[in-house]
Formats: sequence, C-alpha cells, structure tokens
Amino acid sequence: MRLEMRPVMRRVTRRGRLAVLLAVAVLPLSAFASAVHGGARRGSAADQVPLSAYSHMRSHMRGRTTWDSVFNAEQAARGQATYGRTCARCHQPSLGGADESPALTGGTFVSNWNSHSLYELHDRIMSSMPTDTPGTYRRSDVVDVIAYVLSANGFPAGTRELVASDDSLKAIGFVSAKP
Ligand code: HEC
Repeated sequence: MRLEMRPVMRRVTRRGRLAVLLAVAVLPLSAFASAVHGGARRGSAADQVPLSAYSHMRSHMRGRTTWDSVFNAEQAARGQATYGRTCARCHQPSLGGADESPALTGGTFVSNWNSHSLYELHDRIMSSMPTDTPGTYRRSDVVDVIAYVLSANGFPAGTRELVASDDSLKAIGFVSAKP
C-alpha cells in the first residue's frame, strides 16, 4: 500500500486546492483495493505481496466505482420490472425487506457491500438467490436488477449499461460514501 500511495500523495500536495477533493476520491478507492486483496487487515504482511499483485491493485485503483454512472436509466427500469417478478416476493416491492429477507436499500445494505466489487454482489445473488431455488436466475437479469438496486440507493445513472461480463463487474467497486 505504502509504495502505491506515494505518487498519489505527491500529486495531491502539488495541486493545492484540489487536495481535499482528491483525498476524498482516493481514500475509498484505496480502501476498495485493500479490501479486494485482503491487505487492510494483514498489516505488515503487505511487504510479502508479490509485485504482480501490485500491478493488479493499480488496475483496481484506476477502475470505476458505483459513483461513476455505471448503468443507465433504461436498464434500471428493466431491472425494476425484473425485480418485481423475481425478488419482490421476498425483499418486497419497496426493497425494504421483510422477515428473513433483508432490505436492499439503506445504510445496512450499502455498508455490507462497501469495498466489494459488483462482481461479488452479482455472484452472491447468482449463487444464493432465490433462497428456495438458488442458481436459477439469468446473468443479464441479475445485472439489470443490480442497476435498479444501485439506482434505488441513490447512485447516478449515465449513458451506458452495466455489462454482464466478469471482467467489467470486477472492475467496478461498490463505494458507499459519495466522493
Ligand atoms: C425466496 C425469497 C427470496 C428471493 C426470491 C430473493 N431473495 Fe435475496 N435474500 C433472501 C434471504 C432470506 C436473504 C438472507 C439470507 C441470505 O443472505 O442468504 C437474502 C439476501 C440477499 C442479499 C444479501 C443482502 C445483504 O445485505 O448482504 C442480496 C444482495 C439479495 N438477497 C438479493 C436478491 C435479489 C437481487 C433477488 C432477485 C433477483 C433476490 N435476492 C431474491 C430471500 C430471497
């Protein structure tokens, strides 16, 4: 981590007025990168991380987050319809949850997924939902539902759709705090 942060910190210092903005943007990203590689909790074990892992981490730090308009409004609307047909019977039409099924909006949900990639969220839904017949959803439907869930949690829509490929989902970090 320390090796990675130095050049970033130099740029922050030089740019004066932008320092605060950059720091706010860089911190969640670096927290995301650490969490992905388990570095945050391992402390001095970071010294033993092979160099190849650092280049992987750099690509994550350049990667996008849920604040970078990673879905569009059409996809979120499609996801809302799919959600209504699939998830709503347990998680409720409001996304507020009931009984055993947790809310898919709000502070607890957003902090559960903070620092994870959208790939992990997608994988969790694909492998364990619906709890009575897991593994029966289509990837593209789940990606549309994720767009809807992001939209319902206040993340911005953009012009392009969220793509259902492992690589593109892995490159997007779920970051709870607005940069
Ligand atoms: C048959 C009921 C049922 C259906 C249908 C269902 N879920 Fe769930 N879901 C649950 C239950 C119960 C849990 C909590 C237990 C668990 O995590 O396995 C859960 C947990 C989750 C979690 C983890 C929440 C967190 O805070 O980490 C996510 C995400 C999720 N569901 C998404 C979905 C999505 C998206 C759909 C539709 C595509 C869906 N679920 C359909 C019952 C359901």
